[in-house]
Amino acid sequence: MKVITSIAGFREARRRAGGALGFVPTMGYLHEGHLFLVRRAKAENDLCAVSIFVNPTQFGPKEDFARYPRDPDRDLALLEKEGTDLVLMPPVEEIYPPGASTWVDVDDVTSRLEGAARPGHFRGVATVVAKLFNIVEPTRAYFGQKDAQQVVVIQKMVRDLNMNLEVVVVPTQREPDGLAMSSRNVYLSPQERQAAVVLWRSMGLARGLWEKGERDAGRLRQEMVDFIAREPLARLDYVSIADPVTLQELSRLEGPALISMAVYLGKTRLIDNTALGA
Ligand code: PAJ
Repeated sequence: MKVITSIAGFREARRRAGGALGFVPTMGYLHEGHLFLVRRAKAENDLCAVSIFVNPTQFGPKEDFARYPRDPDRDLALLEKEGTDLVLMPPVEEIYPPGASTWVDVDDVTSRLEGAARPGHFRGVATVVAKLFNIVEPTRAYFGQKDAQQVVVIQKMVRDLNMNLEVVVVPTQREPDGLAMSSRNVYLSPQERQAAVVLWRSMGLARGLWEKGERDAGRLRQEMVDFIAREPLARLDYVSIADPVTLQELSRLEGPALISMAVYLGKTRLIDNTALGA
């Protein structure tokens, strides 16, 4: 496994290796969800590359960039075990040298949900992912369904800007009780960790009602809101039932729908989602 910190160094290694390359962009502090993506990338390509870069431009001024969990030694040991070929671990100045002033803005789908709650977040995500694609030149890039809106944004960017790669979407990996794996789960106290199952359970409740024939999105949203309100450690940010492509809120569920949500457990903000009828 080659660990590379410079763009020029990565391009050189990529040129030497050749073949189809599967790429997994991450912000590190790796867990089984990330490793699941790495395994897919490895299985479906000649080479597998992972980037570890906590991207400052996707964090708001009051968000957790400075305290975002980091453990590069552990990450590298895990990636080595998975048989990763190349790891790109650039310092911030390598990706954002002084004077950099070009941004990728994906309109419309970024105005809702996480985009509305976190202004500028997807501009930072789209910009860094576009830059990483230009550096890594992957054949396929792997993203988790865990960040459903991120997937929609990246797919739209790749289409709109004619980027020459395939975006592969991988199912959300969960803890045994249903909590979606996330680097931010380490912030949770033991009580908050127990309460965090409320996200998965509230989506299960909506799914159960939908399976029994409920098609009124307002009623499903209200059931979820009431369910979360019964967990004293949880504070709902938003719950959405939207079209999976446009992310427009639905009033009735006639076709496929995406349930997504953000919930605070103490100071920690967790997101999750599930598809209905996909
Ligand atoms: P990060 O949160 O580190 O996630 C890296 C990738 O792992 C993303 O595609 C994310 O959706 C996926 N992932 C995280 N938890 C998962 C889970 N439980 N199951 C399946 N996949 C999971 O997402 C980012 O970093 C950044 O925004 C990035 C794309 C790297 C740009 O900075």
